[in-house]
Amino acid sequence: MRLNDCHNFHDFRNLAGKRLPGPIFNYIDGAADDEVTYKRNTSSFDNCDLVPNVLNGVEAVDISTTIMGQKIEMPIYCSPTALQRLFHHKGEEAVAAAAEEFGTMFGVSSLGTVSLQQLRKYKTPQFYQFYFHKDRGLNRAMLQSASEAGIEVMMLTVDTITGGNRERDLRTGFSIPLRLNFAGMLQFVLKPQWGMNYLIHEKFKLPQLDEHIHMGGNSISVGNYFSEMLDPSMNWHDVEEMVKIWNGQFCLKGIMSVEDAKKAVDVGCTGIILSNHGGRQLDGSRSPFDQLSEIVDAVGDKIDVIMDSGVQRGTHVLKALSLGAKAVGCGRFYLFPLAAAGQAGVERALGLMRAEIVRGMQLMGCKTINDLSRKNLKFR
Ligand SMILES: Cc1cc2nc3c(=O)[nH]c(=O)nc-3n(C[C@H](O)[C@H](O)[C@H](O)COP(=O)(O)O)c2cc1C
Repeated sequence: MRLNDCHNFHDFRNLAGKRLPGPIFNYIDGAADDEVTYKRNTSSFDNCDLVPNVLNGVEAVDISTTIMGQKIEMPIYCSPTALQRLFHHKGEEAVAAAAEEFGTMFGVSSLGTVSLQQLRKYKTPQFYQFYFHKDRGLNRAMLQSASEAGIEVMMLTVDTITGGNRERDLRTGFSIPLRLNFAGMLQFVLKPQWGMNYLIHEKFKLPQLDEHIHMGGNSISVGNYFSEMLDPSMNWHDVEEMVKIWNGQFCLKGIMSVEDAKKAVDVGCTGIILSNHGGRQLDGSRSPFDQLSEIVDAVGDKIDVIMDSGVQRGTHVLKALSLGAKAVGCGRFYLFPLAAAGQAGVERALGLMRAEIVRGMQLMGCKTINDLSRKNLKFR
């Protein structure tokens, strides 16, 4: 199977599975507990159907939109994800280059493996995804470097005050730096190509944190990072302070309730991302698509409402936009292509997604995404 044989999310996932050692594939593919929320995220799009209007003369379609003051050429962006150079040696560089090619945004994680400064050379707007640490000095230093680098949008993730129970990682012993159990090691022996790439390219780093946290050569599981370093006492007052210090476009990622959406408006956020972290945190929680219309009704005229989790198809994007989302984010949708073929993989995935959105718009009889509305959607 080669890149050109990949036509959808599942093809990329299969190819990534062939290229990656099992523990790394499962870190991307896995989710919390019984992975019920992970499955629901995508299946929730099947609860409703698109209702097209035909004979609208749709030759040209404009799928650009503006979120948090940033014009993007397509209504989907690459959501920030950790550890990308483990998936492909080019990591965030490959994703940023592909996002630039398609005129969309990408996010850099606090657990990113390329520095946010290095990624400024890509001429497309960038989110900086912030994890709120117990160490307030570290938080201030991270905000300061993001501000100095001219980051367009600050994104505070609020659904990770403790780590989700990711049992696949517990079974393989997945941690950073890599320190695996015997079964996990065996998986690496079976994928020597990945091992070669890992060894011959630049040493693996976490530049957003390395300056401030001394890991002392000890490995730390992602779950431990969340549990030991992030501050579970984070509250609305902390957010309000951060918004003031940042003094620019600021969104919260991981908002799910109407109450919290309203509070986000009150403390001065300019956007919210409805997200359950791709099902990786609270299993049994509602899917963002199921929750979307309530939130749009409550705050959609005051703040940019965006969603992520479960998006795999152009028609998923059309359904979310029809309910009132300004744009959607994706995670695994670009991570499997990254693992499968680096920048070329992410570009192929974004290209297929753009073609699906444009084709879907034409078949729906819509020229711009403002033409999409709830009239185009019927719940079963
Ligand atoms: C491997 C992986 C790592 C992630 N790392 C982060 C992270 O560091 N910070 C964050 O806010 N979200 C992180 N996320 C969540 C994504 O930003 C996004 O919310 C999620 O992937 C959306 O679900 P989807 O994968 O079904 O598209 C991660 C997701 C995955 C799959």
